[in-house]
Amino acid sequence: MIVTVASFKGGVGKTTTALHLAAYFQHQADTLLVDGDLNRSALEWASRGELPFKVVDEKQAVKFARAYEHIVIDTPARPVPDELKTIASGCDLLVLPTSPDALALGATLQMVDALKRLSTHYKILLTLIPPPPNKTGDEARKAIASNSLPIFKTGIRRLAVFQKAALEGVPVNQVKNDSYAKIAWRCYFEVGKEILP
Ligand SMILES: Nc1ncnc2c1ncn2[C@@H]1O[C@H](COP(=O)(O)OP(=O)(O)O)[C@@H](O)[C@H]1O
Ligand SMILES: [Mg+2]
Repeated sequence: MIVTVASFKGGVGKTTTALHLAAYFQHQADTLLVDGDLNRSALEWASRGELPFKVVDEKQAVKFARAYEHIVIDTPARPVPDELKTIASGCDLLVLPTSPDALALGATLQMVDALKRLSTHYKILLTLIPPPPNKTGDEARKAIASNSLPIFKTGIRRLAVFQKAALEGVPVNQVKNDSYAKIAWRCYFEVGKEILP
């Protein structure tokens, strides 16, 4: 299974999503996370601590890919049309994380529009959903549904423990002494199940 995570906008949880999907897949079979973003956020995450799966850059990917059952690819923000074509064609599923704010949603709809011409299998993932009584998460879901676009049933809540995990260099289920770690992991676990039960 090759899953690519992409978005036109930065800061929408792309790297966080790629990393936690890799953590989910690793429970099933050996998984490789390819850091295709020149910011190298995933590789830095790995260097700060320890991740339960291998992380390589896109140049090393070719060499390593063969040895892994599942591959998750993190990509740079704002891909140009040609890049988008390459990104979209090389995977089984394209995951499009988007925060529920208007800017990010707009960028996602723009990407979906570009993807239509490429007949790619994609699914939108709502991320950074603020806690109630804030309703932007629900509103964003409705907006996506009203456009009849595919979206994961599970959304990712906005929880500070995700930032803690990045600092500690671990997936969120390995953050100690934080009661939100389990809740946060459950979000990505459920998304993982929607991809590969
Ligand atoms: N669900 C979340 N809750 C809280 N903070 C998050 C969440 N997802 C990501 N973040 C934080 O938001 C910032 C951007 O996330 P990141 O995954 O690096 O996005 P991108 O790769 O799209 O730029 C980071 O500081 C990250 O720790
Ligand atoms: Mg990133």
